[in-house]
Amino acid sequence: MNNVNDLRSSAGLSCQKSALKTAPADLLEMPPCNFTPQEYKVTTSSLLARSLSQLTLGERLWVTYYKKPVYIHQGHMQWLWDVDGKRYLDLFAGVATVSVGHCHPKVTAAAEQQLRTLVHTTNIYVYPPIHEYCEKLASNLPDPLKVIYLTNSGSEANDLAMCMARLYTRNFDIITFRGSYHGGSPQTMGLTAQQAYKYPVAIGLGCTNTMCPDVFRGPWGGSHCRDSPVQTTRKCNCAQGSCVANEHYIEQLKETFLTSVPSRIAAFFAEPIQGVGGAVQYPKHFLKEAYKLVRERGGLCIADEVQTGFGRTGSHFWGFQGHDVLPDIVTLAKGIGNGFPMGAVVTTREIADTFAQGVHFNTFGGNPLACSIASSVIDTIKEEGLQQNSLEVGTYLMMELAKLRDKYDIIGDVRGKGLQIGVEMVRDKVAVLGSEANDLAMCMARLYTRNFDIITFRYLPSCWILISS
Ligand SMILES: Cc1ncc(COP(=O)(O)O)c(C=O)c1O
Repeated sequence: MNNVNDLRSSAGLSCQKSALKTAPADLLEMPPCNFTPQEYKVTTSSLLARSLSQLTLGERLWVTYYKKPVYIHQGHMQWLWDVDGKRYLDLFAGVATVSVGHCHPKVTAAAEQQLRTLVHTTNIYVYPPIHEYCEKLASNLPDPLKVIYLTNSGSEANDLAMCMARLYTRNFDIITFRGSYHGGSPQTMGLTAQQAYKYPVAIGLGCTNTMCPDVFRGPWGGSHCRDSPVQTTRKCNCAQGSCVANEHYIEQLKETFLTSVPSRIAAFFAEPIQGVGGAVQYPKHFLKEAYKLVRERGGLCIADEVQTGFGRTGSHFWGFQGHDVLPDIVTLAKGIGNGFPMGAVVTTREIADTFAQGVHFNTFGGNPLACSIASSVIDTIKEEGLQQNSLEVGTYLMMELAKLRDKYDIIGDVRGKGLQIGVEMVRDKVAVLGSEANDLAMCMARLYTRNFDIITFRYLPSCWILISS
């Protein structure tokens, strides 16, 4: 098996129903749904033919994993309907973006109300929704993270955070994990450490990527490393209170400090759980120790909460809280607007003051419509107990998926927290988890070539999803 397509088809896991020769006997019926979607008038085939012939979508169509792309027409909470009226359970939520459910009535009502009142004005003026929103967002963040900048996307938020860190520290170098995704702008492409998203042009100067402390796929890891209801099936001989894997990975970070960056750095970016990289979780104390080492070198610690924020991980509202760390800057996007384009940077007054030496302006960032929608998203999460729901449904799902891992060789790992879940497929479980000799060279090779050898199915549904669905 050589590539992603081989693995998918051999596992019978293609999402196209037509790929299944015979439907498995235990294929469940869709649960009932009393919502009736609108009928879509244009046929799938004519729409597809037009898109392909005119190439109106640029490359977008070509990145789809489907031979026959799914044409989505309507959404309602956890459900999606395609243009032919077929219903799907959405376990991806637009890549962790539809945080409280498709077209959630409360969010729709807030958007409608704001559309009738004031859609846009420059943020040179003041208007109530931006203040209401910033107050609400700040009240959900710990001190001293109280100064908010609003953007339109996660890439923009990370760009801004990079700039702030460099201005504040007067250093230039920024470190991220291999396998991370922090955006596709020219600056953030340097933070992003995945081959597929890189171009052969001068991008992201001053960015260095270090080893990701991946306790399943990496050279070190055991059965107690993760903050997850499901651990790896690797063996663990650590004494209570110590984690050998963590020590090794911290040594790797130190090695990066010694070899790849100057003695003073600007920042270290990390997601609390590496999202695009495959819901990768680090040893429990890694970030805490890494933050200390970064700060000793003058750097700021930046938590990219674009995927993990707003209660998705279940135990906390923010992913960094699960690592018991306090970042200097937090970046947000995706779930912040339940699908409405929005992002944010939150930092301390001290860092913000350095940034105030120039004028930062963003035409759309934090406009009245975006702020009203984002405000209703926070209200919905709180009023409907969606953080707790993430914990309960996510834990249930992971425990059930772990049973499949124990049963099928093709499933190497199940991991995650709340509704940020990864299920990693492997060609050969024994080869990955090793004879416990765990040949280090082989492990390193696997780590560096992970992009083409590995598929991780990611479950990131709306935090509204029910166990019954
Ligand atoms: C962790 C993380 N950071 C940043 C980004 C970039 O966000 P955007 O696509 O809104 O620019 C993404 C997007 O997938 C992401 O997953």
